[in-house]
Amino acid sequence: MINYKALINGEFIDNGNWLEIYDPYNNEVAGKVTALKPEDIEKAFMFARNAQENWENVDLITRIKLMNDFKNLIEKNKNEIAKIMTSEISKNLKESLTEVERTIELIEYTLEEAKRMEPLALTGEGIGAKNKIGIFSRVAKGVVLAISPFNYPFNLALAKIIPALVMGNTVVFKPATAGSLVGAYIGKLSIEAKFPKGIFNVVTGRGREIGDIITSNKEIDMISFTGSVPIGKNIKEKASTKDLVLELGGKDPALVLDDSKLENWSKQIVDGAFGYSGQRCTAIKRVITTNKIADKLVPMLKSQIESLTVGSPYENKAITPVIDQKSADFIKGLIDDSVSKKAKVLCGNKFENNLVYPTLIDNVTLDMRVAWEEPFGPVLPIIRIDDLNEMIKIANDSEFGLQASVFCSDISNAINVAKKIKAGTVNINGKSQRGPDCFPFLGIKDSGQGVQGVRESLLSMTRYSGIVINY
Ligand code: NAP
Ligand code: G3H
Repeated sequence: MINYKALINGEFIDNGNWLEIYDPYNNEVAGKVTALKPEDIEKAFMFARNAQENWENVDLITRIKLMNDFKNLIEKNKNEIAKIMTSEISKNLKESLTEVERTIELIEYTLEEAKRMEPLALTGEGIGAKNKIGIFSRVAKGVVLAISPFNYPFNLALAKIIPALVMGNTVVFKPATAGSLVGAYIGKLSIEAKFPKGIFNVVTGRGREIGDIITSNKEIDMISFTGSVPIGKNIKEKASTKDLVLELGGKDPALVLDDSKLENWSKQIVDGAFGYSGQRCTAIKRVITTNKIADKLVPMLKSQIESLTVGSPYENKAITPVIDQKSADFIKGLIDDSVSKKAKVLCGNKFENNLVYPTLIDNVTLDMRVAWEEPFGPVLPIIRIDDLNEMIKIANDSEFGLQASVFCSDISNAINVAKKIKAGTVNINGKSQRGPDCFPFLGIKDSGQGVQGVRESLLSMTRYSGIVINY
């Protein structure tokens, strides 16, 4: 069993309190992390503040080199990181390794892009101020609080930490409880990479116990949060800073239009809906299609879903246990509600503790919870609607607006529909997905605030600092 300590000011903290992290597959303790107390958290922010100015004064190229050394350590330890991830979040070993490798690429791209954060140089000539030259550089915001969710504990953590640090911010990082082992491992690697004291701090503990204490700390200049809508809204209300980037939930629709190439696209839909057992913010969480096409599409989806392997993440099964029993119970509640209102379950709806078999539900109607709520599990509802405008309306009636997919051979029609959908991004003829990570990634409505992505994160973690020369 692994025990990892929190990290504050370059020192591992052992305060005698431990938080057990359970393996969702076998319910055994996968490891322990330090459960920090409020006074420890105060210290983390104080040290982050004290270290910030010196760190910002280090040359950009030296900061990049240090981050690159850190990235090389990830490369060296990638199999171990993937194994730890599997043990605490039941993402299968292959997909866990893919997450680590994707993160290595993300770091490389971020470090390259950091060199291109050139200052803006302007003259005032066009607006009656001929004798002024302004130089506006991107400078660090200060102390960044990074909070990551359980489902991408490595990638979504470092997608915040690296752009913040490379631009001269210091970071206090709060990993999700399920994800803390990987989170604390990031702290361990930062010590091996010889990060200067205080620039990177890992605060572990349960969000419901220490979350409000963390987000209300007065030293925070910016918060970058990924997680659920209720916690995101809570942070918006209580945080000590208004400078927030929030990546929240989704209920991404896939609109399958009458001229879709079903053989090609049904696979995209199944991948999109069931990858990591549906525990992706960008998972396809509802299919909206016409009666005409549904009779062909639904059997195709059903046969692919039935061929998904189910079971152990250690044996690389496609569908693995969801994060905990509470989550499985919530998913069951959504399915039961739809069944009680006459939806047809075509496969799945089988539960072994928190292992949820992939479930396809047809004839879902708008009075059913599963039409609107995010299951965060392997469940795909089919909504049959014959009118295109009505399909678009249902796609838009959601409180979420993360992504959507439109499947349609006529590209003009697809673009016209895409333009009417209210979401951060609409994917034509492809599943909804965040990657490639260099693309801007954003949600509208309850799905988020601000933008992530390589360049966008560098921008959001910096501000302009202007110098105006009068001559
Ligand atoms: P969550 O329960 O909201 O937790 C997210 C993070 O917030 C965790 O680190 C959690 O710590 C922490 N937290 C809990 N209470 C807090 C508080 N009062 N103040 C500050 N932080 C607090 O979400 P999750 O279950 O980990 O992730 C699933 C959700 O995230 C889904 O809704 C999914 O759609 C969304 N998500 C969105 C995106 C996106 O990019 N839009 C990406 C991934 C996931 P503890 O674990 O210790 O409670
Ligand atoms: O869960 C939210 C992630 O940002 C989704 O990333 O679309 O690459 O799986 P993904």
